[in-house]
Amino acid sequence: MLERIQKMLGNKAEQTDKTHVFDENGAIPKHIAVIMDGNGRWAKSRSLPRIAGHRQGMKTVKEIVKAADDIGVEALTMYAFSTENWKRPRDEVDFLMKLPQEFLTTELDELIERNIRIRMLGIQQGLPDFTLKALLAGEERTKNNTGLILNFALNYGGRTEITNAVTEIAQLVADGKLRPDEINDALVNDHLYTRDLPDPDLLIRTSGEIRLSNFMLWQLAYTELWFTDVLWPDFNKEHFYQAIAEYQGRARRYGAV
Ligand code: IPE
Ligand code: IPE
Ligand code: MG
Repeated sequence: MLERIQKMLGNKAEQTDKTHVFDENGAIPKHIAVIMDGNGRWAKSRSLPRIAGHRQGMKTVKEIVKAADDIGVEALTMYAFSTENWKRPRDEVDFLMKLPQEFLTTELDELIERNIRIRMLGIQQGLPDFTLKALLAGEERTKNNTGLILNFALNYGGRTEITNAVTEIAQLVADGKLRPDEINDALVNDHLYTRDLPDPDLLIRTSGEIRLSNFMLWQLAYTELWFTDVLWPDFNKEHFYQAIAEYQGRARRYGAV
């Protein structure tokens, strides 16, 4: 009897010690893309200004980057600011533009320690100097790192990305360097910001919105989508690992049987 109780307690302790619910021997998504949404609603529900939600959301970014790195995810792409987010009030945009610098000031050393490589996906033009400088410095300081690739999609729009690719390809054709019949999926891919990354295996969107909001329209063609009502500032490592557990239960068919 005692033995049985001890065994039960032992098992329970084992379970609670476990920080994740997914199968360690199962497939870990190589590339995870995240639409971090719900900061404004999180703040509103606490009668705080929207920027308080963004500040809290930055803490979630730190936690999720570490959670992804801890389990050997190869690339993590975080949607931080869309080409449409310029429509927001000036003070909110100003605050969001300060976050990359703040994030890197406090986190860069640990990211370097973890061998993480930072990159920016999006249009550099139009970003304030201090924002761009912080991101480029982060890219430069981590460019030789070989661990997790951490992409910040900032001033990013999926349609703009594809349109830029089309323009570049059209120019090659116009210059006589490429024939139209040489254009294929791989060539288009080579003109996207993500040219050297695998497509995301898993997309996570928080806050209950079930849409893509112009995020990685080309790359998400066969990605597994996972949505949660949890607002980004409330999202944590356990939710993240839950998404991976559900991903592991999905059958990816890519059009085959
Ligand atoms: C996501 O949270 C952060 C950005 C888009 C920069 P939101 O600011 O969109 O929060 P909600 O959707 O208004 O709650
Ligand atoms: C998408 O969220 C952009 C980011 C998370 C950076 P939004 O809050 O801007 O999207 P919509 O407006 O609800 O579609
Ligand atoms: Mg939103």
